[in-house]
Amino acid sequence: MNQLQLTELDKQLAEALKFIARRQDIKAYLEQNEQMNRLVRRAAAQYVTGEQRHEAMIAATRLEQLGYAVSLEYIGENTTSEKECELAAQELSDLIAELGAFRRSGRVSFDLSHIGLLLDTELALAYLLQLAAQAKPLGIELFISMEESAKTDRILQVYEQAVALHLNIGITLQAHLHRTWEDVTAKLPAQARVRIVKGAYQEDEEICLPRSQALNERYLELLTHVVTQGHQVSIATHDEALIEVILQKGLLDRQGVEFEMLYGIQPELSARLQAAGHPVRIYLTYGQEWYLYLCHRIAEYPPNLYRAVIHMIQEEPIDAIASYGELPAR
Ligand code: FDA
Repeated sequence: MNQLQLTELDKQLAEALKFIARRQDIKAYLEQNEQMNRLVRRAAAQYVTGEQRHEAMIAATRLEQLGYAVSLEYIGENTTSEKECELAAQELSDLIAELGAFRRSGRVSFDLSHIGLLLDTELALAYLLQLAAQAKPLGIELFISMEESAKTDRILQVYEQAVALHLNIGITLQAHLHRTWEDVTAKLPAQARVRIVKGAYQEDEEICLPRSQALNERYLELLTHVVTQGHQVSIATHDEALIEVILQKGLLDRQGVEFEMLYGIQPELSARLQAAGHPVRIYLTYGQEWYLYLCHRIAEYPPNLYRAVIHMIQEEPIDAIASYGELPAR
């Protein structure tokens, strides 16, 4: 069993990283200091394919050659100007077009707050509808990420309006929120595509369960419900013990159910599941906003800090894909 027992020091480190992640002055310092930027970017290379779309496409191609499906995310959230929203929507549109041009199916994932949710839900809805209409004939699906609970109502509202018109839109649901069972039973259309995660955000204990056995049981309950309802489901967790139970319960045996894991996290687990014949999707990220993403990945599993430090000082290029398997020799 690979369940992490966090020490008090780990918890303090995780809190410190979440704090650092939000400090604009530290981010600005990193952007300006070339040497520091290069070092921290090396640590980020374990989790982020690069700053540019073509780097994500190269990683996607390699993973697809190894037999994985992929999701792609252009990192970004909480955009506060209309111009930035427009640029983010344009990048997502270019990503969809590029996937389409290479006749690749695939999934494009994003935060609605990257394309306007904080400014106006109608703006985010308008961009989402445009992107879904573009993606549909290309066989590409869009997946909405779930953000802090303060945004859940707005995200679900936009999702419900958009999915009524375009079924190629999926939604991420957080098992840790008490409200999610209600949302799952009341708000999903019959052919919904859902991704079940535990939840990444620090929330008040009145509205959510912390990491615990109770949360794992709730995760299983939600998962069993969406699978038996016939939804297309992505099981998005790296929790090996939980995955073992999911496999024992036969929840992977249905059509349209897969594992989905973040790029660079537990690649050996992804490789093992895939080698055992289970469908596995890898969630790739790219973009300039990698700093916040890196801090989150380390904060949720503090031992990753050791790896980050090692990557910063080692000479060899970081190749996170190498651990996902080897292409057969021709
Ligand atoms: P959990 O945190 O319960 O830890 C269990 C074990 O998993 C650990 O002991 C360790 O072995 C392993 N593990 C977990 N995280 C690790 C890491 N960073 N490095 C190494 N090992 C790790 N959240 C959200 O709120 N909204 C969203 O839209 C999404 N989207 C999303 C998409 C996909 C594809 C995935 C996989 C995850 C998300 N998440 C998310 C994040 C999710 O909510 C959750 O925070 C992380 O997946 C960590 O929770 P787990 O269930 O993976 O493991």
